[in-house]
Amino acid sequence: MPDFILAPSILSADFSRLGEEVENVIAAGADWVHFDVMDNHYVPNLTMGPLVCAALRPRTNAPIDAHLMVEPVDRLIPEFARAGANLITFHPEASRHVDRTLDLIREQGCQAGLAFNPATPLAYMDHVMDRLDLVLLMSVNPGFGGQTFIPATLEKLRAARIKLDVYAQKSDRRIRLEVDGGIKPENIAQIANAGADAFVVGSAVFGAGRESDPRRYDSIINTLRARLAAGS
Ligand code: DX5
Ligand code: ZN
Repeated sequence: MPDFILAPSILSADFSRLGEEVENVIAAGADWVHFDVMDNHYVPNLTMGPLVCAALRPRTNAPIDAHLMVEPVDRLIPEFARAGANLITFHPEASRHVDRTLDLIREQGCQAGLAFNPATPLAYMDHVMDRLDLVLLMSVNPGFGGQTFIPATLEKLRAARIKLDVYAQKSDRRIRLEVDGGIKPENIAQIANAGADAFVVGSAVFGAGRESDPRRYDSIINTLRARLAAGS
């Protein structure tokens, strides 16, 4: 697997031409399609469900990274697995039984992720490391694209990196560490330096693409990769 994963959030894409947007952003060199699911209950916004995921599935071979901001979450997991999601991530506050929900995701053949809001303690991961494929740290409060990166995330990210490194040494299993919210060319290297290896980028990718050529995202993807490679 590549060292750094770029996962554009299609929340900021043009919803009237989502299939094309997905094809273009992956053709431009992005790795995963980040699919934000909001239910107007766990978060104050309403977005896309499994039907949209299923409609996009044939448009790309790239992994679909489903971020479920829904409560309750369990009923939707088999639906997203059937709709072709590869990774399914949920928020521990939205599940009565976190360990059981992680098992449910893996039983469906998907990779399992746990998402941490800015104020959610990292301790939620401590006793379920063996069921985790991905840890997602929110660097904004969930619900909307285009928010500003919360700087306190960097310290939390360093703490999460240490936990995952200790686990990797013991288990020989690597858990991805993804950051979501407010990532731009100006801060992506700093976020990588603090320990992230997967980056959700919504408004910075789709906003940039639309200003220049609505069908080309090469330039912004290349810029993000260059900043990661340069480390600054
Ligand atoms: C927020 C979502 C994010 C968001 C990222 O709840 O989970 O994925 O769309 O968008 P930007 O990059 O615009 O902050
Ligand atoms: Zn997200």
